[in-house]
Amino acid sequence: MIGHDFMAYQLLFVCLGNICRSPSAEGIMNHLIQEKELGDRIMCDSAGTSSYHIGSSPDRRMTAAAKLRDIALEGQARQFTVADFEEFDLILAMDKDNYQDILRLDSTGRYKDKVRLMCSFCTQHDDEEVPDPYYGGTEGFKYVIDLLLDACEGLLDSIRADVSEH
Ligand code: 4NP
Repeated sequence: MIGHDFMAYQLLFVCLGNICRSPSAEGIMNHLIQEKELGDRIMCDSAGTSSYHIGSSPDRRMTAAAKLRDIALEGQARQFTVADFEEFDLILAMDKDNYQDILRLDSTGRYKDKVRLMCSFCTQHDDEEVPDPYYGGTEGFKYVIDLLLDACEGLLDSIRADVSEH
């Protein structure tokens, strides 16, 4: 396995708390990567812009919505750090606040091209942001999963060329 991490394309999904949207994006992407046998080419992680939920497991309502689609959510919340700009090839912000909060930490503007809005990869939805489901009901969590399935498919298609060159 030596060289495994070095060769892999690194994706980081970022939301506010790292307990709902970004762990879902990570779980969905890992599911698609496994299906397409790209597990040795692409690595996924997730983080939050806030420190609110550091160390927490994914939200149980989010986990339940993901399970309906056979997606498992894993990991413990961590906060985004400036070191992530170097570590990751692409940083996917769930909404525009997350996007601005990430870019605010890039004081030189050097990493701007690595940071993208997750919904820019959707092909079936017009949404510009993944809505924050935290204070809403069950339907909101289900919607996040469907929107992220669309975005993750589009993202995987768009990085596939880069991944095969790695
Ligand atoms: P996430 O959802 O950013 O998708 O993980 C939220 C989780 C927690 C809070 C807001 C959004 N909160 O305010 O604690």
